[in-house]
Amino acid sequence: MRLLTLALLLVAGTVKADFDDEVDLQQHLGKLSSPRYPIESNTNNRGVVRDYIIERMKYYGLEVKTQKFNTTINKDPLGINSDRIEVQGTNVIGIQRAVTEHPGAVVVVGADYDSNGVDHPLFYNGAGVATLLEVARMYSVNERWSGHYVANYTTIFVAFDINTKLHQDSPGHPGGYYFVQNWLMPFLKQKEYFGGAIILDSVMNVNYKDNSQILSSNFQNIFPDTYKRLQNDNNKGNFLAMVSSGDKEPTKILREQFSGSYYKDRRSQPFRLEDMKLSGGVKFDNLVEQFTKSDNIHFWNAKDLNGEPIQLPALLLTDTKNSRTLSTTNCITDPCRPVELVTEERTEFVEATVKGVTTFLFNRQATRLSYEPSSSMSSLPSAIMTVLMLALVRLYM
Ligand SMILES: *[C@@H]1O[C@H](CO)[C@@H](O)[C@H](O)[C@H]1NC(C)=O
Ligand SMILES: *[C@@H]1O[C@H](CO)[C@@H](O)[C@H](O)[C@H]1NC(C)=O
Repeated sequence: MRLLTLALLLVAGTVKADFDDEVDLQQHLGKLSSPRYPIESNTNNRGVVRDYIIERMKYYGLEVKTQKFNTTINKDPLGINSDRIEVQGTNVIGIQRAVTEHPGAVVVVGADYDSNGVDHPLFYNGAGVATLLEVARMYSVNERWSGHYVANYTTIFVAFDINTKLHQDSPGHPGGYYFVQNWLMPFLKQKEYFGGAIILDSVMNVNYKDNSQILSSNFQNIFPDTYKRLQNDNNKGNFLAMVSSGDKEPTKILREQFSGSYYKDRRSQPFRLEDMKLSGGVKFDNLVEQFTKSDNIHFWNAKDLNGEPIQLPALLLTDTKNSRTLSTTNCITDPCRPVELVTEERTEFVEATVKGVTTFLFNRQATRLSYEPSSSMSSLPSAIMTVLMLALVRLYM
């Protein structure tokens, strides 16, 4: 039955007029609320989520690889006891292969799929993983089956395991480190082939209340423009932060391409993107330091195959995590159930990120084929075909 449905949807996909941009986060979020801190009691949860990511990526037509690594964590997620253990992690890597050996060709989209043992697994980082999977789905499936795009350059989707930097007290290297150093560097062969990374870490918490954004004293020095805009708007947590490092050309291009894509075709929304540039020589406080604990840091602080330090361009997309109040006032139950946490306004906020990253990939990694004159002619039959297919699917379900 599933095969038949798939076959019918495949056919429907090929005759559709343009690419499907219906974002469906719920299908993934429903799978991502369980705790995934890498201790024994979470082994089953971790396995279920890892297998789900692998299965989805394969289903979207990606070439899937896993990368295992050993690292050391603190068994106590609060870091009060110092009972350290060695654990094994698995990065899941989905490759949409096209041309790799070309300057700036390879783009990586990544998100952590473990949880930190303290905060809600749906926010940290279930929403990031749901975004990753939806982007992978919309890009791969549409590129393959819409007939309107051709992928020029290789895109890599990666779900990182065990981000020890976001634990309270875990001394081992995180999965992101092993990915960049032991997997990506050999894959690239030349560092010039790398175009940039987009890291999705905590992307669901939007808050429209006054003073929901917490600012440190240092914030104003480091991000003066963002600070001014926040002040003028009563410090609302109503933005997605796009954090980058330095002002080298590839980073500038990445920033411009992403913000252009985020705002493309946008209906007026109550939230915005904040372009937040970190530069060398600034004094980091706790707030700013958290921008260096996500996987973007392994790109910024990479070493090439000869062990020489290099800075690879990477953007961190984040709701700023603990610097923004998480409102749970709409919850009827205590603790809040996952379904109550995924509010309409949060869904809308994440959907904009999914569309922004997908548009970015289509613009940067693929070419839109010019329409043949007959394409408008074929759109009527194709619409009829789609309706017919869906009717058939209904009938057989
Ligand atoms: C991780 O540790 C296990 C057990 O000591 C070992 O068998 C395995 O080869 C190690 N894996 C890696 C990738 O180092
Ligand atoms: C992308 O691929 C298409 C089809 O192979 C080709 O016609 C086009 O020139 C390529 N574009 C770039 C920028 O390489």
